[in-house]
Amino acid sequence: MRIMQRSAFKRSNDSTRIIITAIMGISFGIFIGISISSVHLSKISLLSGVKSSFDVPMTEIGIAHTIFDGSSGTKNIEALRSATLPKINVSSNPRGAELLPPGIVVSESDLYLRRLWGDPSEDLKKKPKYLLTFTVGYDQRHNIDAALKKFSDDFAILLFHYDGRTSEWDQFEWSKNAIHVSVKKQTKWWYAKRFLHPDIVSAFEYILIWDEDLGVEHFDGDKYMNLVIKHGLEISQPGIEPNNGLTWEMTKRRGDREVHTVTQERPGWCSDPHLPPCAAFVEIMAPAFSREAWRCVWHMIQNDLVHGWGLDFALRRCVEPPAHEKIGVIDSQWIIHQVIPSLGNQGQSENGEDPRAAVRARCRNEWGQFQARLSNADKEHLKELKRSGKV
Ligand SMILES: *[C@@H]1O[C@H](CO)[C@@H](O)[C@H](O)[C@H]1NC(C)=O
Repeated sequence: MRIMQRSAFKRSNDSTRIIITAIMGISFGIFIGISISSVHLSKISLLSGVKSSFDVPMTEIGIAHTIFDGSSGTKNIEALRSATLPKINVSSNPRGAELLPPGIVVSESDLYLRRLWGDPSEDLKKKPKYLLTFTVGYDQRHNIDAALKKFSDDFAILLFHYDGRTSEWDQFEWSKNAIHVSVKKQTKWWYAKRFLHPDIVSAFEYILIWDEDLGVEHFDGDKYMNLVIKHGLEISQPGIEPNNGLTWEMTKRRGDREVHTVTQERPGWCSDPHLPPCAAFVEIMAPAFSREAWRCVWHMIQNDLVHGWGLDFALRRCVEPPAHEKIGVIDSQWIIHQVIPSLGNQGQSENGEDPRAAVRARCRNEWGQFQARLSNADKEHLKELKRSGKV
């Protein structure tokens, strides 16, 4: 910027001066032209706006007609409008929007990207049906790039960056159409609670909230979604190749079928064959939620319990019973959990403890707290029902 200015001054001789004067003259002319036409336009639209809103409600509530003299100048119009607003108080509007006429209330949003020009109704060539989010660090870019090749343009992409590096991702063509949210050192469920409010993501039929360390060689996004829909799964995940002993039986991929919803665990783990972790259960590393299930799950996420441990055991509360028919694992589209240390490494030791161990300790602690909150909530609710004589 500084260099440009300096060179412009240096070369300022008569001919450039003439050119600059000419350009300024033309621009001034255009400016005048635009201002006149925009004044004209705004006058027209304000007048027509006033007329249309007067037609019904104003006459109904019996306000004098004399002040709506069409000949009044534009400067009075705003004053006139505010003086004559109809009294509105619609209790069925969303909380906080009671004073608005229901027809103007937009209580849900989407994450569609729009252009700055043209007709808004023509902004979107195609509306993505699903939302795919990854919580990422730049070090995992090649894995994420490979993963995104398995998802069609039916998926809108949203990346949560826990290392604060976002612009570097523009080396990938897809990144330019992705949404990037950058907040340092937060977890997937922290981002989900803050940026995936059900009213914000309501345009999407399904929401996938994935970790960054998943191998997707044997996975295809469209085929996966077709199976989810075919089997009516409200909450699902791809089968996981059992390459280590850490996986639950339920989420291990089965080679002999498309999908499974029940399994056998080690003896003593399941009090009932239709309860977690034998059924009605997926893990939190690569879940896909229907719009309706997500609306419920979002409300169950606690603001302070950022690791989400224990959430998997409670997911069954967010589908209509029987839960074991609505929650399942897609076996024929499966993934590999690569177990790459990532966000877990970003912990901080407090008293000489290993940072990774400190993160794991918090995970376990959160699991306990979540279970306690849930069972207390159940107890309180039951007590309330009894008190009011409903049970
Ligand atoms: C709107 O109505 C509710 C009850 O119906 C009332 O409590 C509230 O004060 C009203 N608000 C206004 C601004 O009139």
